[in-house]
Amino acid sequence: MKTKLLIAAFCALLGSNVSALAAGNAAAGKDKSAMCMACHGADGNSPSNAFPSLAGQHAGYLVKQLADFKAATHRNDPTMLGMVAALSKQDMADLGAFYAAQTGKVGMADEKQVELGKAIYQGGNVSSGVPACMGCHSPSGAGNPGAKFPSLKGQHAKYTAKQLNDFRQSNRKNDAGKMMRNVALRMTDAEINAVSQYIAGLK
Ligand code: HEC
Ligand code: HEC
Repeated sequence: MKTKLLIAAFCALLGSNVSALAAGNAAAGKDKSAMCMACHGADGNSPSNAFPSLAGQHAGYLVKQLADFKAATHRNDPTMLGMVAALSKQDMADLGAFYAAQTGKVGMADEKQVELGKAIYQGGNVSSGVPACMGCHSPSGAGNPGAKFPSLKGQHAKYTAKQLNDFRQSNRKNDAGKMMRNVALRMTDAEINAVSQYIAGLK
């Protein structure tokens, strides 16, 4: 009897360790996403440009953002702070797996701004020192999960422009090595708006 109990206790211990290290479970993440749906959409395609789409974003990037909102030192948002307060590491991993498995929709780009936006995205601005976005975020905007460069394609232009402004003003400081702050610092409002429009239409 004692041995059986010991074995059960050992297995429970092992089980909890395994789940702490486990990768996210998309099915569990779907259940946990009920409280996110109103803003980010049932499948992670947000219906409003006030909220970012999460569908198809890399799981590792999503988990990092959730943890960063919770730490509230380098990325602060009052709405998201309330949302992540009760999330465990496992919840974050499950939510990340769920949204990463969804398919992102292409957004709408303002055709008048696409030409300047494309030039910035593909070639940067040599005279002011803005690097080409595609060097890190890839030509298609799919990013590079291995290097922790997020996917940008199809995102609402209003959200992308807000992030670039936040990086430029150092309101958002969760970019390793100031990678994005150094980019945004050199950008004009017109460049930020145009590149955000171009990104919305990337697929
Ligand atoms: C009331 C609306 C609302 C709800 C509900 C909500 N969010 Fe958000 N979420 C936002 C807003 C607004 C932002 C953009 C914050 C900013 O401007 O930086 C955001 C940003 C995010 C981001 C960062 C996206 C990126 O590309 O960097 C993630 C990840 C996220 N939310 C996940 C969640 C999850 C998971 C839930 C549910 C547990 C949730 N959100 C619930 C409004 C909401
Ligand atoms: C040297 C690599 C690098 C370059 C060049 C670069 N980025 Fe980034 N970008 C990053 C990294 C890394 C992050 C993620 C920061 C984090 O971990 O939160 C990021 C994040 C972003 C985000 C936030 C995404 C989200 O969902 O919130 C936007 C928007 C963005 N970059 C746009 C751009 C644009 C536009 C350009 C070109 C003008 C550009 N980036 C050039 C590395 C780069």
